Amino acid sequence: MQLTNKVALVTGAGSGIAKATAKLFAKEGAKVAALGRTKDELETTVAEINNNNGEAIPLVADISNPEQMQQAIQAIIDKWGRLDVVFANAGINGVWASIEELTPEDWNKTINVNLTGTFLTVKYAVPYLKKQGGSVIITSSVNGTRTFSNTGATAYSSTKAAQVAFAKMVALELAKHRIRVNVICPGAIATNIDENTDRQDLEEIQEPVEFPEGKIPLTDGKPGTSEQVAQLVFFLASDASSHITGTEVWIDGGESLLKA
Ligand SMILES: NC(=O)c1ccc[n+]([C@@H]2O[C@H](COP(=O)([O-])OP(=O)(O)OC[C@H]3O[C@@H](n4cnc5c(N)ncnc54)[C@H](O)[C@@H]3O)[C@@H](O)[C@H]2O)c1
Repeated sequence: MQLTNKVALVTGAGSGIAKATAKLFAKEGAKVAALGRTKDELETTVAEINNNNGEAIPLVADISNPEQMQQAIQAIIDKWGRLDVVFANAGINGVWASIEELTPEDWNKTINVNLTGTFLTVKYAVPYLKKQGGSVIITSSVNGTRTFSNTGATAYSSTKAAQVAFAKMVALELAKHRIRVNVICPGAIATNIDENTDRQDLEEIQEPVEFPEGKIPLTDGKPGTSEQVAQLVFFLASDASSHITGTEVWIDGGESLLKA
């Protein structure tokens, strides 16, 4: 077990990529703080871990709310006295629409959750990570880093691009404290995120594109799984990646090489 005695914060842990990661971290010996908005989902994640010889606690908080995030980090310290790994993953697709239809409220919501939420998650964790060093992993996307053809996903892609800049800035700032900061950029992964996307009149603004061999070269079009992404996050959390900081890793089966 490679994460024994480590304490990990995982945001968005009620579903998808973060749920699979929380379970893998726990299996590898980490104590896991499973943070998210939805109490029922978090309790299911925590029960699955605790019933499987792991150790986890649920933390209900909105990552875009500074007070709630400060309290959540404090709850981790009260419980376990340390913090080693932060997986800043929670995010939303938000509204995908033309620039004329996208309202300032739609824009602000996506920026607040995806970008400000990442900032707050890392900001309040840093004082504790500094004590012994640690690893931060941020979930960006192919959108905004290699792919720019999901026309309408403008706010989303802007946040995902900004997360990469954020990670590189703080990777350098925090290196002297032995804190590593890396970014994962998933392509299509089978989770619930699509069901929570508000698509508005995209047919009118998107260019029609067809890929005869399927759009994910490594799998003939089949999306990746949360468990595959969790393996990458685990690698970046563990000492196996001890000299890696300030970089993005795409995990997309080659999708973003084909579809820019
Ligand atoms: N699934 C994909 O194809 C894909 C591709 C690229 C990037 N991503 C990114 O992966 C991350 C995880 O998404 P997923 O696919 O696992 O989807 P998901 O919808 O299953 O997971 C997102 C989780 O974040 C939580 N969340 C959302 N807003 C929150 C808030 N304000 N405060 C606290 N928790 C909040 C949700 O409740 C949910 O549990 C996101 O950042 C997303 O942008 C996903």
